[in-house]
Amino acid sequence: MKIIIDRLRSVHTLEIDEYKQLLSCREQNTIDYLHQQAREVALSEFGNQIYIRGLIEISNCCRNDCYYCGIRKSNTTIKRYRLDEDIILDCCKQGYQLGFRTFVLQGGEDAGMSDDTIEFIVANIHKLYPDCAVTLSLGEKSFESYKRFFQAGANRYLLRHETYNEIHYRYLHPEKMSSEYRINCLNNLKTIGYQVGTGIMVGSPFQTIDNLVNDILFIEKFQPEMIGIGPFIPHKDTPFASYPTGSVELTLILLSIFRLMRPKALIPSTTALNTIDSKGREKGILAGANVIMPNLTPNTQRKNYELYNNKSHLGAESAEGLEILRKQMQAIGYEISGERGDYVQH
Ligand code: 5AD
Repeated sequence: MKIIIDRLRSVHTLEIDEYKQLLSCREQNTIDYLHQQAREVALSEFGNQIYIRGLIEISNCCRNDCYYCGIRKSNTTIKRYRLDEDIILDCCKQGYQLGFRTFVLQGGEDAGMSDDTIEFIVANIHKLYPDCAVTLSLGEKSFESYKRFFQAGANRYLLRHETYNEIHYRYLHPEKMSSEYRINCLNNLKTIGYQVGTGIMVGSPFQTIDNLVNDILFIEKFQPEMIGIGPFIPHKDTPFASYPTGSVELTLILLSIFRLMRPKALIPSTTALNTIDSKGREKGILAGANVIMPNLTPNTQRKNYELYNNKSHLGAESAEGLEILRKQMQAIGYEISGERGDYVQH
């Protein structure tokens, strides 16, 4: 197995069967070796610096009805909100003072938030904070809309493909969504010039090892600048309420595989990982992640952006808890970077 891991590190690709072996590996020595290699690669690319992104959850209104997601349209138990421009700019102001140089505007596919509005907000952030990157994570939009936001100053876009396998995609989403359309969106984002992030939930219902291999091969081919992976966590008011939570161990194995495959990629240690394991954030970093996304959303609304149950948003998960985060990182030998942390090819 170590030979396989060494080869992944040196040539950044493996055969299908070899990926399967890695994903099925339960041998702790081998897994430790995988994480160690991934960690070394991250250290050689980024030093011991961890980039931070200020996450602003701008709306929990969503026209989609994804079976796994707590803000799906059919969930009538949550209070819907939409932040107005002033509030979003306030979040950025606060974030900037705290040292954030990337703002991530994330939200459901909210028909009540027009392209004009989004364009206006992006342009304003860009004008007020020209040294900051603007990342959008607002779901599927037309080529034209993506282009407008890009021209207004957005630099990056996060859109997880969720699963590359069409049949598995069908199990997770209602009829009117399709993996084909989603991949098309990802291609459009690349064409326009965004740094693009994609990814999956680990342990989503009905996911197989073969599905995961397909996801790995897709990411190998698509070459995203950012890769977001976290465990699936059930939400009580969704059709998947009674499905099991994804595995921390498998999430970490995938994280390391992606680091070895794409040494320069920006890979967050996700909130979901830290929600199901109190040391999840640190474990993610030690498995090769190099990004953390603390929450800048106004405290009063955070509880309403529950994609899954018990989503953590306090302490080190929050922007105001940056000092706690700094200490946690220091304890494992890392530092929070003050850079905006773009993807760099060379
Ligand atoms: N568990 C884990 N992650 C989830 N997401 C949505 N719902 C859940 C859940 N129940 C992830 C999806 C989406 C991202 C914003 O959050 O992968 O792309």
